Amino acid sequence: MPLSTCPDHNALAPVLVMDSGVGGLSIAHHIRQRCARHPLLYLADNGAFPYGDKEEGWLVDRVVTLALTLIRRYPVRLLVLGCNTASTVVLPALRDALAIPVVGVVPAIKPAALASRTAHIGLLATPGTVKRTYTDRLIDAHAPHCRVTRVGSTDVVQLAEDKLAGRGVDLQRLQAAVAPLFDQPDLDTVVLGCTHFPLLLDELQQIQPREIRWVDSGAAVSRRVAELIDYQPRLNDDLAAIGQDTAFVTAPVLAGSQLAVSFARSGFNSVEQLGL
Ligand code: DGL
Repeated sequence: MPLSTCPDHNALAPVLVMDSGVGGLSIAHHIRQRCARHPLLYLADNGAFPYGDKEEGWLVDRVVTLALTLIRRYPVRLLVLGCNTASTVVLPALRDALAIPVVGVVPAIKPAALASRTAHIGLLATPGTVKRTYTDRLIDAHAPHCRVTRVGSTDVVQLAEDKLAGRGVDLQRLQAAVAPLFDQPDLDTVVLGCTHFPLLLDELQQIQPREIRWVDSGAAVSRRVAELIDYQPRLNDDLAAIGQDTAFVTAPVLAGSQLAVSFARSGFNSVEQLGL
């Protein structure tokens, strides 16, 4: 029996997007584009960042506890676990614990396999995601005819955090991390299997040695969210109208810091630390 959640969640209650850090902002961006005026909350577990090297049992407990803590205090209509590392292991426990719908984000293996002309695709994700049984099953189900080169990197996750914290992206470090993909001459499509990575798309395209198709899950997730909340676009839907949404964090973020500015650019104008 799911634990009950805030009873007053309703059509106007926000959608909550969760991640270990800023990665879920890439998902929030797609949700904002599709459901422009729907309120959003964001939860960055920056106190436990990164998730990519954490043990699976620990991740399950952490994510379920955080989601319950927030949802007991605020009305939430739907939860998006904007994190492949967590979604590939936590979703069943989260759905058992919550009474609201939960949408996960998992690597876009299927569209990548369909798009590849050479049948050799790359999976760029966290060390946790590349070794999950869930990921093995996705590949067996949707890319049985493909060769899949997997690269797990926590460094690339950190580079995305650096970018949004205003520290600049070290392209040499990025190049070193993705070299095992670029070194495969027939690999033509790469799955960005971590929500942090679309935030580095410009930099990845800048260093790619040849034409590569980069595939992520953002658009598919936002379509699913729109279906579940039955979002009806209105003529005056306008991204510029966004502005009152809150980002919760589990470790301090300085007011006026570049990170706070990045949250604000994504429509999360107020940043609050969540007491656990
Ligand atoms: N953004 C997350 C993902 O999609 C996790 C990054 C991390 O904390 O390692 O996997």
